[in-house]
Amino acid sequence: MRCPYCDKPDTRVIDSRQTEDGYVVRRRRVCDACGKRFTTYESAEASILMIVKKDGRREAFERKKVINGLKKACEKRPVSMGEIEDIAARIEQKLYALGEKEVLSDRVGEFVMDELRKTDQVAYIRFASVYREFADVEKFAEEIDALRKHSAHSAGRTIQIAIDGPSGAGKSTIAKGVAAKLGIDYIDTGAMYRAMALKVKRTGTDASDEAALAELLADTEIDFEDGQVTLDGEPVESEIRTPEISEGASVIAAIGIVREKLVDAQRAIGRSKNVVLDGRDIGTHVFPDSKYKFYLTATAEERASRRYKELKDRGEDVTFEEVLKDVQERDYRDMTRDVDPLRKADDAVEIDSTNMTIDEVVNFVVDSLNK
Ligand code: DC
Repeated sequence: MRCPYCDKPDTRVIDSRQTEDGYVVRRRRVCDACGKRFTTYESAEASILMIVKKDGRREAFERKKVINGLKKACEKRPVSMGEIEDIAARIEQKLYALGEKEVLSDRVGEFVMDELRKTDQVAYIRFASVYREFADVEKFAEEIDALRKHSAHSAGRTIQIAIDGPSGAGKSTIAKGVAAKLGIDYIDTGAMYRAMALKVKRTGTDASDEAALAELLADTEIDFEDGQVTLDGEPVESEIRTPEISEGASVIAAIGIVREKLVDAQRAIGRSKNVVLDGRDIGTHVFPDSKYKFYLTATAEERASRRYKELKDRGEDVTFEEVLKDVQERDYRDMTRDVDPLRKADDAVEIDSTNMTIDEVVNFVVDSLNK
């Protein structure tokens, strides 16, 4: 379109908006030659697919809107952004394949539901319940019933990706990266032992007094909120990464009654949804039937030097020798304790990360899942 000010042909669209009746598009343009802005009113081109809403209004089809609807339905579900984009592209293709200039919005909704039904039942029910406003209650009752039956039999259907290994091997960084890539939750089981150690410290409990510890455990709630560990409902992430708590966690993690309580909680979380868990005994004890087990290692020196850097960056006053000694002591305690000692599960894939970058390890894990 030519510029009304300088009559040059190079003008660009800044944004477009449908007017109320949907047949006219209001566009703001800018002229590249003189820099002036102007507004035009143009008839919606024949090539634009128009969506007719329930109240009769029309708007141009936008894939972005379909993606937004899908994203909402798939929130916290194991559906990646890539899958959502693929679904939206398929829906767009189907709509254009109808060969019509106008399509009822209901039709778009049906296409979305068809796709979600095949992808993720919960996302499907979420979308459908809002979209159909529970218009067809009977049909919903049937579908929700089927979903309930399906989940009753599907305790083993959620996936648990176990990443075990010694302290400082980079398990949490890798587990977080894998979880983010797959769009599923990450459970830091070490943080649970750390939170328990914090409770022991705060209450001044003698961890070697089994009766006192049992009483304390019964009065303690450890969970996760927005990916952060909570102790009795309080987020404690910032308090559990000190050398003192590392030491305390390693000590209480060797006590049977502590492990029983925390392992029960880990199983409950891991069965309810797809998760990546990192720890010491996930593949050997917490989820021994998991199909996806990794054992991440690196030399003690490499692990100590990573932790040393981390502590220094945080302003802690430590020497490399102290950190190395601490790593070696924790390895010894974690590997030689009586209950669920750290060891590689026979069917775990071992990864030595000494000379690998974070991305390399994350990609290796994700690629191995498809094999
Ligand atoms: O991974 P981390 O350093 O945050 O773990 C803290 C302590 O908890 C560590 O000494 C080992 C112990 N632990 C465990 O025994 N079992 C797990 N699944 C996770 C951690």
